[in-house]
Amino acid sequence: MSSRRHGPRVRGNRLEGLLLVARREPEVARIVAATHDGRGIADVAGKKVFVAGALEGEEVRFLRRKIRRKFDEAELLEVLQPSSSRIEPRCEAFGRCGGCSLQHISQQEQRELKQRSLRDNLERIGGVEPERWLAPIYASGDDGGWRYRRRARLAVKDVHGKGRVLVGFRERHAPFVTDMHRCEVLADPVGNLIDPLIELVEGLSIRNRLPQIEVGVGDNAVELIFRVLEPPNDDDCAALIRFARQYDVRVALQSGGLDSVTSLYPEPVPEALSYDLPDFDVRIEFESTDFVQINGPVNRLMVTAAIELLQVEAHHRVLDLYCGIGNFTLPLARRAADVLGIEGEQRLVERARANAMLNDLGNVEFLKADLFEIQGKESWLHAGCDRLLIDPARSGSQALIKHIDALGPERIVYVSCHPGTLARDAAELTEAGKYRLTAAGIIDMFPHTAHVESIALFEKNKKIK
Ligand SMILES: C[S@@+](CC[C@H](N)C(=O)[O-])C[C@H]1O[C@@H](n2cnc3c(N)ncnc32)[C@H](O)[C@@H]1O
Repeated sequence: MSSRRHGPRVRGNRLEGLLLVARREPEVARIVAATHDGRGIADVAGKKVFVAGALEGEEVRFLRRKIRRKFDEAELLEVLQPSSSRIEPRCEAFGRCGGCSLQHISQQEQRELKQRSLRDNLERIGGVEPERWLAPIYASGDDGGWRYRRRARLAVKDVHGKGRVLVGFRERHAPFVTDMHRCEVLADPVGNLIDPLIELVEGLSIRNRLPQIEVGVGDNAVELIFRVLEPPNDDDCAALIRFARQYDVRVALQSGGLDSVTSLYPEPVPEALSYDLPDFDVRIEFESTDFVQINGPVNRLMVTAAIELLQVEAHHRVLDLYCGIGNFTLPLARRAADVLGIEGEQRLVERARANAMLNDLGNVEFLKADLFEIQGKESWLHAGCDRLLIDPARSGSQALIKHIDALGPERIVYVSCHPGTLARDAAELTEAGKYRLTAAGIIDMFPHTAHVESIALFEKNKKIK
């Protein structure tokens, strides 16, 4: 294979082959830096080696697993001198499961790592720096960083080789389902239901026709949606209902697209799943397949912080873009004169409208629109707004930023799940002094994972009209 890649340079190939063999011995090095996703970086004879799970400052023994031209990737064999930030991972599947990659780092250090990632992205990609750093937003308390995940898709696999069923997240380095028994970040009670779910699926006639389970945890109830490629028989249904009663969860079946989801237990469903935003006296209803912010306690803090940063006043017209089911829109409507929420998915728009009615809010409207395709003639764009909240998906909001002059908000709060696209959009917003990046900070929405959620405040520069 190497001779094909390198052509006829036989001598070079031999050398390369020898080097490969030599590198397959364990080595010792000091970790000089860290990536935001929990890999330590060693500099060995001028070449970078990424050691998964090693922390900055540590001396480690490692084995190179992937040799590349510019850098190598290695497996951590032993920590010879641990960092003071190193802690014992709580989860027995840590290192194998792709769900979390930072459990070996104290939560304080995880947040610092995420803040560094945000700062680096803003500087490197956006060439910007906030005028002030906001304190990180996170759920405090002993258990603040655990059992938070209220939406998840669990993979299910009937593994012939193991003679058993696996239920869990995908492995970190492979598309296989992780062999796990419980999960420390899934919200109660689901984190403790992995083994009972395995036992349940092992007893079903369709155990190899059930590829995934959607999890939705509301403040009021828990729902598990079993994706089934074949209808369950009567005994299967009886077992699923027994499980639902025993663990006090709702069970639904999904045979096709989202419209095919039907409740098996209870039937009929007494009320939708919901969560509350008590600072605004708002209740939001959702379905397990909807987008909801993963971490309930942190979401409450985030919504309050975003609305405080916007400094919404009673006469303001506010725009909430990428509004989903109204998570920011409805709290905003409690403070502002009127609010328009725009969202690309019709079923989420409908849910948002229903949520506005549920909360008796008459000063809010919702519109379905593709915010990646803004033509510049849209009436909502030219109606303008005093305050703008944007919370886009990972790809950011480049198309909208191009039309920001038409909207002309005094303040923009940008909530982002990708610091790279936030930085790119920040560069565009601050270009030619139109807006100033007055504040930014991280939101620890996904503790123990490498996901970086952040929030940024842009204020219109009054000198330039
Ligand atoms: C990060 S979520 C935020 C949802 C909401 N703000 C919340 O807090 O729950 C991003 C939302 O953008 C929507 N979205 C993604 N691409 C879009 C597009 N091109 N146009 C409009 N909305 C889009 C998604 O459906 C999703 O609801």
